[in-house]
Amino acid sequence: MATVEISLASDVLEQTLLEHGQAHLWDVLQQLPERAQRRLRLQLEQVDWASLQQVFREHGEGAATDAFSSPVTDPLATLVLQPVKNLIPQRTSAQDTGWQAALRRGEAHLAQGRVAVVMVAGGQGTRLGYAAPKGMFPIGPISGASLYQWCCEQVRYRIRKHGCAIPYIIMTSDATHDTTLKFFEEHDYFGLPAEDVWFVCQGTLPVFDHETGEVLFTDRETIAVSPDGHGGLLEAFTEQNIWQRLRERGIATLAYHQVDNPLTKICDPGFIGWHLQRGSQVTTKVARKRSAGERMGLVLEVNQVPQVVEYSDIPEDVAGQLDAKGDLRFWAGNTAMHVFDVEFLESVATSTDPLPLHTAHKATPYWADGRCHTPTQPNSIKFERFIFDVLPRAPQTLFIEIDRDTEFQPVKNRTGADSPALCQAAMLRLHRDWLTAAGVIVPEHVPVEISPLVAQEASDLKSLLPTGTTILEPIVITRNA
Ligand code: UD1
Repeated sequence: MATVEISLASDVLEQTLLEHGQAHLWDVLQQLPERAQRRLRLQLEQVDWASLQQVFREHGEGAATDAFSSPVTDPLATLVLQPVKNLIPQRTSAQDTGWQAALRRGEAHLAQGRVAVVMVAGGQGTRLGYAAPKGMFPIGPISGASLYQWCCEQVRYRIRKHGCAIPYIIMTSDATHDTTLKFFEEHDYFGLPAEDVWFVCQGTLPVFDHETGEVLFTDRETIAVSPDGHGGLLEAFTEQNIWQRLRERGIATLAYHQVDNPLTKICDPGFIGWHLQRGSQVTTKVARKRSAGERMGLVLEVNQVPQVVEYSDIPEDVAGQLDAKGDLRFWAGNTAMHVFDVEFLESVATSTDPLPLHTAHKATPYWADGRCHTPTQPNSIKFERFIFDVLPRAPQTLFIEIDRDTEFQPVKNRTGADSPALCQAAMLRLHRDWLTAAGVIVPEHVPVEISPLVAQEASDLKSLLPTGTTILEPIVITRNA
């Protein structure tokens, strides 16, 4: 009896693998020692082979770039593309009554403890060429504070200012989890209450050979996998019981940000307030693109439905279109700062219709013929899900334009555009402007860094330093824990 059960179970997996062009996995599985066989079998049984193979057939083979493509089935040329509507323009004056009301609403929501924050930090950060998780990168221009520290101190500032608790969810991946966890432990959670820092490790997806569509191996018994994209957050939250924990804490709103932009205003009350005022389920900050070719996702309407389309999927002639004033028609770049309604996000996570898969063409080391190969050219197709694909499913969305000089300078590349050097220069410029606005004199050549514990905006400095104070040496303005 037992033998029949085992062979039936084997048949199901064998059949699935054969049907989806992965017969080689079955062959390898048969040759493995029992323990390794069990481990691999479990892994293979969890994969949705039909979806992966379908996406590989439709998009994977054609994936020409190393950026993840959009799973839009129709060519963009056949769709009606329009600039995004439902947009709150940049705040230009402190007297703006709409913004003042939004601020008050957001502050009250924070004070009631209705907000949690999630930072996505599962990416491999290959473009930066930094071996450790990107969050450990020393970004403080003078202090050398890591991106993780910088973000945690922003959350501490909000906790103090609004007198509330804020769960901070750090989404990691296999690639970043252990090192990140250790880093937080070593730094005592950067002063946050340890019980309010929740680590969630996202899942992985198998990596396919770009020609054969077969899954690659990294050694004799391990298949090649890569993180399943920041859209993997939905599944990870479900599997790791995060929705329930959020419900238990009365959290209605999730403020989302990426690990790579220290200028991001975490828990920005105005942002949260607008989201609530307009009854939005997904609110996204957008920034004016500097050029048509800038590597930012575009927020636009596709057949009247708002969504983000990655830069690699926008044909040059579309990206370069100008409006009557001669400005870019599709100007709204995705800053990847979102506010989500938790109930809505959970409903997407638990629906039977998962977020679509995107593909990218990447170089992946692999095991074949008894040895490891390290290709220098793309040889594989990786799959990811993107969190911003929830946008088209939201009944109500909202977009807020930001001033990118003060809120958006991500760290992506070692040098040039989006490099740490540019980011640090932007941080110092911003801090100098805050000091100047507070009547403090800082000569042009003197760098001053302001810890997020001290200030998030110019007005925070007003009562801190007497007008006319002159700073003559590089310093970090911070506060004791
Ligand atoms: C991303 C956006 C782009 C936006 C830009 C703004 C995507 C696909 N594109 O581009 O629209 O204009 O940021 O800076 O996101 N991550 C995970 N798990 C993963 C993969 C990534 O947590 O499996 C995290 C990374 O750690 C990072 C963020 O997601 O915090 C963005 O990933 P990245 O690959 O750097 O996206 P970009 O191409 O820079």
